[in-house]
Amino acid sequence: MSSLRNIDQLKKDLESAARAAGSRKQFMEAVARQLHDRMLKYNWVGFYMIEKGSDGRPDMLVLGPFVGSMTPHTRIALNQGLCGAAASSGKTIVVHDVKSDPRYLACSADTKSEIVVPIFAKGTVVGELDIDSHFRAAFQQEDIGLVEYCAALVGQFLEKFGARESAEAIKTAAATSSSSKS
Ligand code: SME
Repeated sequence: MSSLRNIDQLKKDLESAARAAGSRKQFMEAVARQLHDRMLKYNWVGFYMIEKGSDGRPDMLVLGPFVGSMTPHTRIALNQGLCGAAASSGKTIVVHDVKSDPRYLACSADTKSEIVVPIFAKGTVVGELDIDSHFRAAFQQEDIGLVEYCAALVGQFLEKFGARESAEAIKTAAATSSSSKS
């Protein structure tokens, strides 16, 4: 199911979705939905976007569009969790066994492995694509390539649409996306 041919087709379909989408919320929902539904070990797929701190408050990661069960982590500090580590380092993080990583913030007792890929727009980290799996070591080289490709596609899309929509629109998306696959 996750053969290279399927991955290539999924990338092409997401490129088409990027051309068709009228808003970043719509595109991010499509990316989360397609990854969740077509990659069978991707059990929770979602975005966290950086909310700029003001009045001395630090920047935070805020839950955006996602597909999967609701997570208790709707806001994550940049010095917390695998999500904070990916955003603050600007590097992809892959953890094959979340129990062995002290940085891990538990979202579901079923999660065994996780990948977090930063999203860059105009050279700056603006958010990240986070995927949890119920399977140990679910994220191998072809998965890393696919998720990094998706994060780059979203980054390019945000550069185009970034100025037109508020972060509020993205946050509202979190309230409307959900489904389960178990
Ligand atoms: N596990 C993440 C928290 C987000 S949930 O997985 C959706 C972390 O360690 O930062």
